[in-house]
Amino acid sequence: MSTPPVDPTTTRAWSRLTELADGSTPDLRSTLTPSWVAEHTLTPADLHVDLSKHLVDAEVEAALLALADEVGLMERRNAMFAGERINVTEDRAVLHTALRLPAGATLTVDGVDVVADVHEVLRRAYAFAERVRSGEWTGVTGKRIETVVNVGIGGSDLGPVMAYEALEPYRQDGLSCRFISNIDPTDAGQKLAGLDPETTLFIVSSKTFGTLETLTNARLCKAWLLDRLPAGSDPAAAVAQHFVAVSTALDKVADFGIDPDNAFGFWDWVGGRYSVDSAIGLSLVVAVGPESFADMLAGFHAMDEHFRTAPPEANVPLRMGLLNVWYANFLGAHTHAVLPYAQLLHRFPAYLQQLTMESNGKGVRWDGAAVGYDTGEVFWGEPGTNGQHAFYQLIHQGTRLVPADFIAFARAAYPLVDSVDGEDVDVHELLLANFLAQTKALALGRTADEVRAEGVPEELVSARTFPGNRPTTSIMAPALTPAVLGQLIALYEHITFVQGAVWGIDSFDQWGVELGKQLAQELRPAVAGDPEVTARQDPSTQSLIAYYQEHRGR
Ligand code: F6P
Repeated sequence: MSTPPVDPTTTRAWSRLTELADGSTPDLRSTLTPSWVAEHTLTPADLHVDLSKHLVDAEVEAALLALADEVGLMERRNAMFAGERINVTEDRAVLHTALRLPAGATLTVDGVDVVADVHEVLRRAYAFAERVRSGEWTGVTGKRIETVVNVGIGGSDLGPVMAYEALEPYRQDGLSCRFISNIDPTDAGQKLAGLDPETTLFIVSSKTFGTLETLTNARLCKAWLLDRLPAGSDPAAAVAQHFVAVSTALDKVADFGIDPDNAFGFWDWVGGRYSVDSAIGLSLVVAVGPESFADMLAGFHAMDEHFRTAPPEANVPLRMGLLNVWYANFLGAHTHAVLPYAQLLHRFPAYLQQLTMESNGKGVRWDGAAVGYDTGEVFWGEPGTNGQHAFYQLIHQGTRLVPADFIAFARAAYPLVDSVDGEDVDVHELLLANFLAQTKALALGRTADEVRAEGVPEELVSARTFPGNRPTTSIMAPALTPAVLGQLIALYEHITFVQGAVWGIDSFDQWGVELGKQLAQELRPAVAGDPEVTARQDPSTQSLIAYYQEHRGR
């Protein structure tokens, strides 16, 4: 039984925050003192998190922490870690944190030690990965595996792709991964192009093993393989050597024709968007090896421990989640940018979109009552400096408030030196100079007088003035290691949790994706030309189907 949610708007803290938001906004030009920066710099695990450039003062911060108290946020956190069924609409525990508990820990849920189960699957996944990496596991014709194709979508794709890209320097030479997710046949067509079936291994990743996109793509891959293997290859042996699966539905895996010995399980208490650290990360384990994957899990765990044990004022996920609530509910922000100054994190914003928006894009609380306040901001972003030449204009001078997280690493993944007029320039330092310049410009801006002092003609002064006071968090770490990646992912998981807990919503279901799936099934015959099904559709849908029929080109 989950405790009923508190309507946050009924709390004293919410009223206080409303009053504070109606007052004057703190001015970063005066709040950024050395002691303020020192007090607002926190160092969970290997991260260095600077929360000093936010539109808060001590009163706002106290009221935000009081809000967390009044909605029972810490109790809900403890309930999650303890394995209580806090995902009420699906009646499930929420235990992604158990995926990274160290071997030897215990956590009993419904009489089962889930940590022992987790480590048993990890042991099998690591052993399998070692066999592929060493060449002991071969294709059906005896050739060593060179390409692993992960077939999955949503959480069964975004996490593995993002981490595969992020940990590129840790990958084994001669072994690469591709990822097929989209039902658009272009995806499978492009990703299979150029592959040698004899050296390709498919990992079908699907929590439910019922997802249309994944099962369709898996069948396409199976047909592709069987059509192209040398004549005489035994189909059953070929599937056994070239297909493995990751799922919670092992019976459906067997129905698909994949040997249960080649299936890796996980549990209904792992949400898809929280599953990159389960066997869903198998492609990553193969690519970077068990040791790096275990380092990543240790990084996740370090952040879990921080969130579970750090006092509220020093608890980074708590404070970042509360800041997001401040901007979304009191200062009118609709979106939140995540801007990694690291090319290797180019898929991180896309990954965060599912994590945050599938979790917190909800309009009812977990008792079914409608919320009377905004939830779930739109998360988005691109790596800096590319974003600087695209959308930063709006963040600097537009009319909308866009809180942003900037992420950078002290050490370069690819250290390169440019030579300018005979002088060596460390290109990573250029990147970091940009990282620093942006948060400084956003915070401090440039006043009209400063612009005038540069000799700018009066008629151009306003266009060249920067209002400043635009809030950012700076997150740094020594390097983008597997452990740091785990810490970053867990940080955002817990920020998402904090916001959902304040809003009283179930951050772990995703009913909002179901209607479209159902309608797509119903519409398939209409698209294929069934006049009766077409006649049942609304006029706009009918007209679009007619357009397709006219232009399908067959
Ligand atoms: O449709 C949304 C969703 O259920 C996501 O939550 C999930 O990550 C994705 O589909 C894929 O689901 P599955 O792993 O079961 O194929």
